[in-house]
Amino acid sequence: MGLFYRHCLRPLLFLQDSEAVHNRVLRGLSMSARLPALPMLADALYGAPDLPVNFGGLKFPNPVGLAAGMDKAAAAVPMWERLGFGFAELGGVTRHAQTGNATPRMFRAVADRALVNRMGFNNPGAEAMAESLRDWRAREQWPTHPIGINLGKSKVTPLEEAAEDYAFSFSSLQGLVDFFVVNVSSPNTPNLRKLQDKSALDQILKMLRTVNAEVPLLIKIAPDLSTNAIDDVLDLATTHSLAGIVATNTTIERPSSNDSQCKKIYTETGGLSGAPLRTRSTEIISHIFKHTNGKLPIIGVGGIFTADDAWEKITAGASLVQVYTALVYEGPSIAGDIVRGLKSRMEKEGVRLLSDVVGS
Ligand code: FNR
Repeated sequence: MGLFYRHCLRPLLFLQDSEAVHNRVLRGLSMSARLPALPMLADALYGAPDLPVNFGGLKFPNPVGLAAGMDKAAAAVPMWERLGFGFAELGGVTRHAQTGNATPRMFRAVADRALVNRMGFNNPGAEAMAESLRDWRAREQWPTHPIGINLGKSKVTPLEEAAEDYAFSFSSLQGLVDFFVVNVSSPNTPNLRKLQDKSALDQILKMLRTVNAEVPLLIKIAPDLSTNAIDDVLDLATTHSLAGIVATNTTIERPSSNDSQCKKIYTETGGLSGAPLRTRSTEIISHIFKHTNGKLPIIGVGGIFTADDAWEKITAGASLVQVYTALVYEGPSIAGDIVRGLKSRMEKEGVRLLSDVVGS
C-alpha cells in the first residue's frame, strides 16, 4: 500500500503546494467521515492490529499516534483511528481564532524527507473547536481511541497574560477530550518558547491545575532546549503531577545537506520536522528517561518513518510515539505499517509487552 502511495500518488501530490495538498486531504477525510461506507473502507485498507498500551490512566489500542498540527480544527476526528492511529492529538488550538502567518508557510525538503513550516497556529479558536468536537459526539462518530488537544498561545495575547490564554482554551475544551498537551515549544509564535522558562511555565501549569486537577496534562518541549532547561521542565512536571512529556516539537536548527533543493528550503524561517530531527529527539527522550528514572511517561515524536525508528524512540524511553512528516512522505498506511513492524520486532526479540522494552 505504501508503495502505491510513494510511486503513484505522492509524485502527483508533490507537484502541488504543500499546504494546499494538506487542506485538500483534510477536506477529503472530513467528507469521508460523514459517508456511510468510507470509514469502513479506510479501516479495511489501513487499519492497524491491536498492540495495547496503558498511559496516563488511559488505554491506547496501539502506541502510534497522530502528532499535533495535522488536524488543527478537529476536521477529521473519526478518521484517524480508521487510518490505524492509536490516538490523535488535535490542534494546536488557541483562545482566539487565528489565520496564522502569511503563505507560503509549509515547505518540503524532499531528498531529506523533511518539512519546514511556519504556520503560526492557524486555527478556529478554542470555542469553535469545542463546537466541532460536540458535533462529532452528537453524530455518534466519536472514535474509540484517546483524543488529546494541543494548546497554544494566541498571537495577540501578551506573554504576561499567557496563563489566562491557555486557561481559557483549557476550560472551553475540558470534558470533551482525554488529555491536554501544553505547547510552549512552537517556533512560529513570537517569544512562545520563552514560556519554557521555569517561572512562566509554573504559572501556566498552576492556573490549568486550578481549572482542572484531574485531567491528564502533558508538556511538549522543543528539541533546541539546553539540558538544564529540560531539567527545569522535568522538575515542574513532578510538582504539577503531569502525566508526561511530549518530546519533541520541530527544531530551528538546520542540518547540512548536499541537495540544492533542500539547501534552499532550509533558508526558510520556521520549524524543521522529519528525518533530520530523529536523532536529536531520541537523545532528548533518552535524557528525560534517565533523569527521571523512567518515572515520567514520554510520548516520543520527531523523524519516525519506520517501525525501527519507533523502536529506537521506545527503547530510549518513550511509551507512545507520534508521527506527522512520515504521513506526508509515506502515506496513509504509515501507522498500520509501524504497528505491524513493532509487533514482528517484539515477536523476533521474544518481547511480550511493549512496556517491557521502554527505556531498555
Ligand atoms: C507541526 N507540529 C506542531 N506541534 C505542536 O505542538 N502544535 C502544532 O500546532 C504543530 N503544528 C505543526 C504543523 C506542521 C505543518 C508540522 C510539520 C508540524 C509539530 C509536530 O507535532 C511534531 O512535533 C514534529 O513535526 C516532529 O514530528 P515529525 O513530523 O518529524 O514526525
